[in-house]
Amino acid sequence: MPTDRFSLMVHGGAGALDNVKDDRTAVRYLESLRIVLEHGRAILSRGASAIEAVETCASLLEDDPLFNAGCGSVLNELGRVEMDAGIMDGRDLAAGAVAGISNIANPVQLARLVMDGSEHVMLIGEGAMRFAEHCKVPFAPDHYFLTPERIAQLDQARLKHRIMLDHDEADELAESQKYGTIGAVARDVTGNLAAATSTGGVVNKRLGRVGDTPIIGAGVYADNETCAVSATGFGEDFMRTVIAKTIADVLDFKGGDAHSAADEGMSYLKRKVAGRGGVIVIDRDGRCAAGFTTKRMIHGWIAHGGETVCRF
Ligand code: GLY
Repeated sequence: MPTDRFSLMVHGGAGALDNVKDDRTAVRYLESLRIVLEHGRAILSRGASAIEAVETCASLLEDDPLFNAGCGSVLNELGRVEMDAGIMDGRDLAAGAVAGISNIANPVQLARLVMDGSEHVMLIGEGAMRFAEHCKVPFAPDHYFLTPERIAQLDQARLKHRIMLDHDEADELAESQKYGTIGAVARDVTGNLAAATSTGGVVNKRLGRVGDTPIIGAGVYADNETCAVSATGFGEDFMRTVIAKTIADVLDFKGGDAHSAADEGMSYLKRKVAGRGGVIVIDRDGRCAAGFTTKRMIHGWIAHGGETVCRF
């Protein structure tokens, strides 16, 4: 197996995804992932680093209103967008994250700025917004995020008095829903790993709720010695199991590859907390694996520079 070629994986959420079971919607999701993967292929094959690739791919997914991140973010209990994002470089375990931010088109880029341009790993809310201003990140207006679909989705959740994933079980709430976190993991041609994850969180969440996405080791993790992981699903389950780091630890302490580590991680998630969601994993040799406890996960990959595969 060639290990000197790049590998790339992306995901667009996990869940029942009954809203994408019809062919037309499924094609839109899969086409979007394919475009992102081909963009990633182009830059990685020209020598881009893994961290550049995951930032670029995650940004493109944030720019697509199909997905629950960036402009497609779901709404909280007050009808506002509060986004979280995290990014990690497997070369030196450098990491950056933002939580509870609004009016930023690409939270993953702000997370990268926190990583590269501050002495901290995570900034939240007002502090993160002040940092964005300091870095001259442009602010996007409210209407960039508040789509009629997201407002209708929040209304449905409020009627049910519940929070929900963008893709909960197959009930009437799920039928019209787009779903979940987005994420990217990569191994570049020099063998470096990186991971990025970004989300609007869960529909009708409490003001101030933060999920797994920006928590290093829960929703995102990368270490050149083991693997890069991006998670999607019900954040509370992923935080309680520190799932991304748990998967890296499986490789570190037990050995194996991306497939066995993803499987073991999902068994652990299920056994310990009946967790709902999934992960994408690239190991240090560039093997690509996906694991999920939900019915489906929208994801795609390019293993060792080979063909582009998209699934849900
Ligand atoms: N996994 C995304 C969230 O729970 O916020």
